[in-house]
Amino acid sequence: MRVAILLTHIRPEEKLLITAFEAHGISPDIILDRDFQFDLLGDSSQRAPSGVVWADYDLVLERCISTSRGLYALSILNQWGIHTLNSYHTASICADKIQTTLALARAGVPQPRARLAFDEAHALEAIEALGYPAVLKPATGSWGRLVSRVNDRDSAEALLEHRQVLGDYTYHTYYVQEFVHKPSRDIRAFVVGDATICAIYRTSPHWITNTARGGQASNCPVTPELNDLCIAAARAVGGGILAMDVFETPEGGLVINEINHTMEFKNSSAPTGVNIADEVVRYALSTITEGALA
Ligand SMILES: Nc1ncnc2c1ncn2[C@@H]1O[C@H](COP(=O)(O)OP(=O)(O)O)[C@@H](O)[C@H]1O
Ligand SMILES: [Mg+2]
Repeated sequence: MRVAILLTHIRPEEKLLITAFEAHGISPDIILDRDFQFDLLGDSSQRAPSGVVWADYDLVLERCISTSRGLYALSILNQWGIHTLNSYHTASICADKIQTTLALARAGVPQPRARLAFDEAHALEAIEALGYPAVLKPATGSWGRLVSRVNDRDSAEALLEHRQVLGDYTYHTYYVQEFVHKPSRDIRAFVVGDATICAIYRTSPHWITNTARGGQASNCPVTPELNDLCIAAARAVGGGILAMDVFETPEGGLVINEINHTMEFKNSSAPTGVNIADEVVRYALSTITEGALA
């Protein structure tokens, strides 16, 4: 069985994944995304930077930090019929918060109200339709970067003008969500195939709770309600290996905020007691033996 891992550089997660593959007797090839060079009119008979013909891989696991490199690679490999995790279909939806919102809406999965506009005046209208505070965030990105809470009309106007004048065209896509008055935490739930394998609370005095921004991880029990929501959300975006951002609403419900397709999990195995890397590898290997499509 031949497995490749695509990556930008080796993070603790990739080390854990490599160790987990090795525990199953597999030594994955490591392919750096800066070494990619694809003949776009060619096929899977061309060689990967590892020297192996792409078609000889039973599985390519995408773990690039560079979202664009990861997405292009998945798109090409899937077009060539190579089995990847995640699939391009799933990754392309999750990489884009607007596509994620649409997919969740299509599947009837609960989520914060959200609007989209393309110029300052209509973005202001969208923010005011949702009411203050609202959250303006880039359609792509992670680690809480540029996720902005808009408390009043003055700050809305200032943010919108800055994005319009200083941002490139990607910042002229105005994706706005209602602010969810969650407790001083949110939930990060890990879905692998058809199971929510574990979850953590991310607790922070700041409303942005990403662990990359100082949120503290602690175990969150996977209730049937949390599991059902996460599995429905995973199916809505095509399934795979996914990390769900979940908010507890003041009304006592749960909503999906966003879905991550190259999840970070180094802080989550200790509090949950779940060997996330091993769960990922077991699932990945099962998709090969079950002959799952890319
Ligand atoms: N609509 C919202 N209401 C309340 N908190 C939010 C909202 N959107 C984002 N946050 C907070 O900001 C964090 C980062 O936002 P998120 O949409 O997950 O972007 P990123 O892709 O950067 O992680 C979330 O984990 C949450 O703590
Ligand atoms: Mg997030």
